[in-house]
Amino acid sequence: MAYDNIHVETNGRVGIVTLHRPKALNALNNALIAELNLALDKFEADAGIGCIVITGSERAFAAGADIKEMQPLAFPGTYTDDFISSWDRVARCRKPVVAAVAGYALGGGCELAMMCDILIAADNARFGQPEIQLGIMPGAGGSQRLTRAIGKAKAMEMCLTGRQLTAEEADRYGLVSRVVPLAELQAEAMKVADKIAGLSLPSVMLTKESVNRAFETTLAEGIRFERRLFQALFATADQKEGMAAFADKRSASFKNA
Ligand code: CAA
Repeated sequence: MAYDNIHVETNGRVGIVTLHRPKALNALNNALIAELNLALDKFEADAGIGCIVITGSERAFAAGADIKEMQPLAFPGTYTDDFISSWDRVARCRKPVVAAVAGYALGGGCELAMMCDILIAADNARFGQPEIQLGIMPGAGGSQRLTRAIGKAKAMEMCLTGRQLTAEEADRYGLVSRVVPLAELQAEAMKVADKIAGLSLPSVMLTKESVNRAFETTLAEGIRFERRLFQALFATADQKEGMAAFADKRSASFKNA
């Protein structure tokens, strides 16, 4: 299928989605989200893909949900249609997703980035939840994921005032894994994605599931969960290969099995 609002490509075992609505700073409308979800479905089903990158332009990762499209919406339609629930496809990805964020990541754009597993920011990135200035509030997980990522005090100020974080602040507060110069963003994100995509897919997917479980359960349950996954990985051919390669002082050649 041809996409109108995103570009989709593959590079080795990495699937790349570039948000592409330049005239609207990549504002996320229904059409874009439907295309993004479809592209993710395909990458998830493709055994040749081990990691996904989502990125935008140098000026904007995404400046939020499309305000002009939302303007006529009314309750209870928003409720009966469960507006915005389809946005969580990124969060439901079982393969790792790297967000490469330059420029504005506001509202739904910030929320989309936070649904990804590893967030790499360019030095011009700006993160914010400005919904309060529109008479609404974050609706795609912002008040929850931001609070877990940077704590109540900072998340509360951002959500209640719309204050934006610079890339440096986002790094210091733990919202992003690191900041790189804008010119190096895509190459750095690809390097990370390539590294992950070259590892054993079962161990990568189980590791992602285990880290995410830390947000949803007690420490004791999480540790039990992790140990069971750890034990299960000894059933894989990749565990045999990974450890044999170490003993033989050679690189492992994983079969994702
Ligand atoms: N929705 C629709 N259109 C948008 C948009 C958005 N979120 N953000 C920017 N645009 C459009 C502008 O309307 C403008 O279009 P026109 O040229 O047709 O007028 C174009 O993109 C360029 O934007 P600006 O001229 O405003 O560019 P700027 O550099 O002066 O300002 C900005 C950039 C500060 C990001 C500003 O565009 C802005 O504040 N955008 C809105 C940010 C926002 O409020 N996001 C939250 C949306 S609500 C949400 O996301 C809900 C949720 O939780 C899911």
